[in-house]
Amino acid sequence: MKNLAIAGIGAWGKNLLRSFYSLAQGHLVLVCDSDENKLAYAKANYGGLETTVKYDDILKRDDIEAVVLATPPAEHFEMARLAIEAGKDVFVEKPLVLSVAEGEKLVEAAEKANRILMVGYIMIYHPASIFLKSLIDDGKLGKVYYLYASRVNLGKVRDVENALWSFAPHDISLILYLLEKDPVQVTATGSAYLQPGIEDVAFMTLHFGDGTMAHIHVSWLDPHKDRKLVVVGSKRMAVFDDTQASEKIRLYDKGVNTKQDYETYGEYLSVRTGDIVIPQVKSSEPLTEECRHFLHCIEKRERPRSDGGEGLKVLEILEAAQKSLEAGGAPVNL
Ligand SMILES: NC(=O)c1ccc[n+]([C@@H]2O[C@H](COP(=O)([O-])OP(=O)(O)OC[C@H]3O[C@@H](n4cnc5c(N)ncnc54)[C@H](O)[C@@H]3O)[C@@H](O)[C@H]2O)c1
Repeated sequence: MKNLAIAGIGAWGKNLLRSFYSLAQGHLVLVCDSDENKLAYAKANYGGLETTVKYDDILKRDDIEAVVLATPPAEHFEMARLAIEAGKDVFVEKPLVLSVAEGEKLVEAAEKANRILMVGYIMIYHPASIFLKSLIDDGKLGKVYYLYASRVNLGKVRDVENALWSFAPHDISLILYLLEKDPVQVTATGSAYLQPGIEDVAFMTLHFGDGTMAHIHVSWLDPHKDRKLVVVGSKRMAVFDDTQASEKIRLYDKGVNTKQDYETYGEYLSVRTGDIVIPQVKSSEPLTEECRHFLHCIEKRERPRSDGGEGLKVLEILEAAQKSLEAGGAPVNL
């Protein structure tokens, strides 16, 4: 197994530390954070780890072949670029970077250096997402008409990236994964209440060329914690509720049937309300699945499911959504 280092063990990075420490079996060798207190926490809780406040200590070590970045997004570009230049594979937390231009440079650098670049789009490693995709692929939902996602809570208020850039990568990456097609147009609106210019809430809509539509609501200023995706298909409807400890997916045998032979309009459209099924979904932590995938890809030299190219697609949608938001919700073509 290859040796790894992690940079940034704040609120989220400490979860990556836990997961990689357990999966990499002694091969997570160095932990970096500019905050000494975070390093003291790592030392106290994980035996055998070396720690440093200097990112350069990771870059100059030839025995470290891969770097995991969970630093603030504004630092991702420079830190990932340096890691690739130093010949290392990189896992970068979402959002990959804060612009398409930076994303393109990183993807190009990784391709050129033949290094693996994986983005932390955790939702596509979630067992319930994988199950939901199998329902769609097997035609159980019929044609997917539309989807809507909500990712809201009263939570960490960020001071650089807005709620759209912070939260929506999860939902955009999941929707692209489920539908396997790219939107042609995006509209978004949002408002900044707590800090000027940093939207706390955003509503975005993706339009696909065949009429499929997806709506995403994100906010860190909301009374509820909601992590939900609803998929409405021509045959069945599915609800993925990630706030549930188990029973994350419910499948509704509901829809509206059309008849060939009818005399009145009422007969032409008949509402069908059948069973509600809660399928058995493999129970494993999405973060573990995601980290395991990165370790597999760096070992086998395989392209990750959320590689730099997928990262770039999400950035293009985010950038278009931001443009729409700044233009008061005007449609932006992709
Ligand atoms: N996948 C998810 O569900 C999820 C959830 C939350 C956050 N995130 C992502 O994780 C990343 C980190 O977010 P967070 O909430 O943990 O932020 P945070 O501010 O809590 O932690 C960032 C850490 O990075 C350290 N740091 C900053 N600059 C550094 C540098 N140059 N070198 C070394 N250490 C440095 C800070 O000291 C801090 O400990 C972000 O990209 C965020 O979007 C992902």
